[in-house]
Parts: sequence; structure tokens; C-alpha cells
Amino acid sequence: MAKKKDTNYISIKESRAILKNNMRQMRYYEKRKRRKLPESEYTSVMRDENNIIELDGLETCFFTDNGTVMSVNGVSFDIPKNKIVGVVGESGCGKSVTSFSIMQLVQAPQGQVTGGQIRFNADELGYDEEGRKRAYDIAKMPTEEMYKIRGKDITMIFQEPMTSLNPVFTIGFQLDEVSFLHTPGISKEDAKKKSLEMLDKVGISIPERVYKSYPHELSGGMRQRVMIAMALAGNPKLIIADEPTTALDVTIQAQILELLKELQKEQGCSIMLITHDLGVIAEMADEVVVMYAGRVIEKGTAQDIFHRPLHPYTIGLQKSKPLITSSSQEPLYSIPGQVPNPINLPDRCYFWNRCPQCGPKCMNRYPSETKISDTHYVSCYLHEEGGESKCQSKKSKSSSKKKN
Ligand SMILES: Nc1ncnc2c1ncn2[C@@H]1O[C@H](COP(=O)(O)OP(=O)(O)O)[C@@H](O)[C@H]1O
Ligand code: SF4
Ligand SMILES: [Mg+2]
Repeated sequence: MAKKKDTNYISIKESRAILKNNMRQMRYYEKRKRRKLPESEYTSVMRDENNIIELDGLETCFFTDNGTVMSVNGVSFDIPKNKIVGVVGESGCGKSVTSFSIMQLVQAPQGQVTGGQIRFNADELGYDEEGRKRAYDIAKMPTEEMYKIRGKDITMIFQEPMTSLNPVFTIGFQLDEVSFLHTPGISKEDAKKKSLEMLDKVGISIPERVYKSYPHELSGGMRQRVMIAMALAGNPKLIIADEPTTALDVTIQAQILELLKELQKEQGCSIMLITHDLGVIAEMADEVVVMYAGRVIEKGTAQDIFHRPLHPYTIGLQKSKPLITSSSQEPLYSIPGQVPNPINLPDRCYFWNRCPQCGPKCMNRYPSETKISDTHYVSCYLHEEGGESKCQSKKSKSSSKKKN
């Protein structure tokens, strides 16, 4: 009856079909992860050996009772060596799921990487016969093998340190554990020495006291410093920082970001910095990836994104950033509307219902990625090769006859 008109309504028959499909898919992907594979099955070659990570068409889904949630839908971008890449987008656009996919920490069995490649530049693999740098493909790597790089070569700093630190062990115990894990055979004294050094490095003034403390005895900023010390302990090549300062107050936020930047330079590693805050990106990132509803809609250098934003969503994000210098009394701009339902994504630009420049052409297929310069890419009909320069209705009358 009335329920049938509701687009979210799922009949018992549909619900059973979803459950059956979910079970089949989850079993398949879980089995695949446990298989013993020859190395050739989960290794690949880097497109550019100056990158530490190359994501290529990454797809990550969640098999839920309501259907398959496409959280990450064909995401491609590179993280160059010794660079900070900022990933920005509003809540729910797939930033964290992208980072969990890189770490193989997607909540299984519902969450699974279902497609694409995550190429990790691993020095120990060397070069192939054609002189190309070999890489691990994390998307296909068995869980057992992933232990070799997770926590050592790739580490993660989470938003809320209290959820990552174990409340029943001292900071010292938890820091020493990292050394025991990554440096087999290290003595207790040496592990403690290293832990104290790390605490000192992240700006903790009395390392001995913090070493003996429990997480609840420290402030939020101190806990986040401890998390950074843990992340750096194994000399990682890539640190993924998922909203590392969102839970902290503004002054501490600035200190932690400054510390991260300093340590990145000192250690020569790369950082994937996830945030919804464009201000943080402007301060920190060398390159920027803008995500919307599980896709990359624009990417480029910080210069490209901040001085020449092209996608209407990126422009909207910039307009909604508060400016201390603004003298206007007008309320802050906010992008109207909502993100589409990730279960039934439309076969057209996902931003169409919120875009001030949407035109008839935008109702066709999803726009392809257009190269604007060697560093700048955008997915929008306004900038597509041969596309209408401004796809407003009046301009597109003659050229938008093509319909799928
Ligand atoms: N465990 C889960 N089960 C179902 N859906 C999930 C789960 N985790 C994340 N998602 C969905 O994946 C999408 C991306 O989430 P996330 O990556 O956490 O967003 P954010 O960009 O805020 O970090 C969201 O639509 C979210 O609802
Ligand atoms: S493709 Fe069309 S709807 Fe999508 S962002 Fe560009 S102009 Fe807007
Ligand atoms: Mg998140």
C-alpha cells in the first residue's frame, strides 16, 4: 500500500535476495583473502617509481541488509614520495573507507575491496626484467602477507586517539610493543630507550613520566602526540592521518599539524592527510584530492585546487570556508541539498541535484576525467574535451541530443 510508494521500501522477496547475494559475495571475498597465493598474483609494477602509492580504480563496497553500498567507486590517485596529499570532501564521501582499504582494515565481512589496484612501492621487490619498479597490490594481497607492511611501512593516525590506545596498559608498554613487533630480538632496555626517544621527538617534555602514564591520564593533544610517536616508530614510508586534529581544540590542532609537517620532512615519508577542513589542507598539503560520493571529482596541486578550482563542488567547498578577513555580514555559504543515496547511485554526475551549473548534458552518463594540465584533473562536463563550455540549458540545446 502506502509503503510500496516509498522508494526505500524493500519487499520480503527483495530482502531475501539481498541477503542471499550478500552471503555469496562475502564468502567469496573472505575466502580469497585467506588463500595462499604465489607472489606473482599480488604483485604488480608502479606506473611511476616516484610514487609511494598508486590507487587505480579502487572499489570498496559494504554488503548491507538494504543493498550494496558503493562507498568507494573507482577512485584513482597517486601519493608521491616525500609529499603530503590532502584528501578532502564532506562527511560520508568515502575518505576513511579509502584509507581503510589501503590498510586492509575495512570492516569485514560486510566491507570488501571488490575492484581496482592499490600499488605499494616496495623496495624489497626490486625491478622487473623491463626495468619497472615492482609493487605489492594491496587490493589482492592475502591478509597474512599484509602483516609485513601494515604498521611498519604504512601506519595510521586516527581521529580519536583514545579509541586506538588500550586503556589498561601504560603508554610505555604500548610503545615498546611497536618496537618488539618491528625489530625482532630487540632487548627490553633498547625498546624503552627507543620509546623515550620517540616521545621526545614528538615534543613531550617529560618523556619518562608519560612513559609510565595510562592513556586517561593524558590530555587529548598529548594522546595524539603519542599516536604520532607510535606511527613513526617503524620508520614508515606512508602515514595515513584520518582527521588527526578534528577532536582537538584549535591551538593544539595547529601544534599537531606543525609537528606532523616537521616530522614528515625530517623522516622523508609521505602523508595522506584526510580532512573535511579545507583550511588544514591549505596549510599542509602539496597535492589535493577532492572526493564526492565515493569518487574523485577533482585533483591537482594545492596551487591548482586553491587558485584555479574547476569543479562546481570544489568551488562550493571553498565558498563555504569561513574567512577571518571577511567583513561581510552575510551568512556563510552552504552547498544546498544532500549527497545521493550510496545504494542507488544515479547513472549521471552525482552532484547534479546540487549543482548551480547543471544542464541537460549532465543527465547523460557520469562525466569522464579530463586532464587540464599535467597535474590538474577534473570530472565535470563543463571541462570535458569538446564539452559545452558552460552546460547551461540555453547553450546545450543543439549539442545535447545524445541520450543513453
Ligand atoms: N561499516 C559500514 N557499513 C555500511 N556502510 C558503511 C560502513 N562504513 C562506512 N560506510 C558507508 O561508506 C560511506 C563512506 O564512509 P566514510 O569513508 O566513513 O566517509 P568519510 O568521508 O566521512 O570518512 C558512507 O556512505 C558510509 O555510510
Ligand atoms: S557535470 Fe554538470 S552537474 Fe556535474 S558538476 Fe559538472 S556542471 Fe555540475
Ligand atoms: Mg571519516
